[in-house]
Amino acid sequence: MREAFEPLILENTRPVAPSLVPEITLYLADEDRPLYRAGEDELAQLGLGTPYWAFAWAGGQALARHILDNPETVAGRKVLDFGAGSGLVAIAAAKSGGFDVTAVDIDPVAAEAMALNRALNDVWFEIETADLVDTRGDWEVLLIGDVFYEKQTAERLLPWLRDQQDAGRTVLIGDPGRFYLKGLGLEPVAQYTAGTTGIMEDSDLRNARVWRFGNAP
Ligand SMILES: C[S@@+](CC[C@H](N)C(=O)[O-])C[C@H]1O[C@@H](n2cnc3c(N)ncnc32)[C@H](O)[C@@H]1O
Repeated sequence: MREAFEPLILENTRPVAPSLVPEITLYLADEDRPLYRAGEDELAQLGLGTPYWAFAWAGGQALARHILDNPETVAGRKVLDFGAGSGLVAIAAAKSGGFDVTAVDIDPVAAEAMALNRALNDVWFEIETADLVDTRGDWEVLLIGDVFYEKQTAERLLPWLRDQQDAGRTVLIGDPGRFYLKGLGLEPVAQYTAGTTGIMEDSDLRNARVWRFGNAP
């Protein structure tokens, strides 16, 4: 992997333990840095999209907490952390005995941030940047932390994730109850209160839950 963005990531973050998962440390946004107040055009000039990878999202924190507290969910199983951002959920899965953990994010900068966070936590998982939506894969567990923030993404993901569950796979979604998940018959599996950042969220505290589809076995 090219490490083109590593200096930028290290300059604009500091190691922080997210409030709900104190056993994990991530390079997270140092909010005094201009990067996090830059507009889309300024970011694009740096070759960056929105730096989702610099935040531990409430849904990802809830999912990571749930995995760490219930390691049997992933232990000895082939796991995909989809929309991994910082790699928080993949780190929790690797720490909990996931047999073969892959973290995927289409943002190549996220891939570099994940590699740094993987080393920081002394765990191993594979990192990919392909768009895996609508591929079958051979995962046994799919973990999706806070990816339902846009209508278009939600509409693409939901049928694929339902198919994955219908194929007998465990599908767990960490989400603070965003609009695009409402009315879909999802069942809550666990609920937490996660501290999030004021820049990226409309409040500092969101009620983050872990969900599964209603017909889960
Ligand atoms: C809000 S962040 C959540 C990051 C992390 N899971 C967490 O909870 O902290 C959503 C991430 O999903 C990624 N993403 C969006 N569409 C994707 C796709 N089709 N395949 C993989 N990643 C995707 C974005 O690049 C972004 O990093």
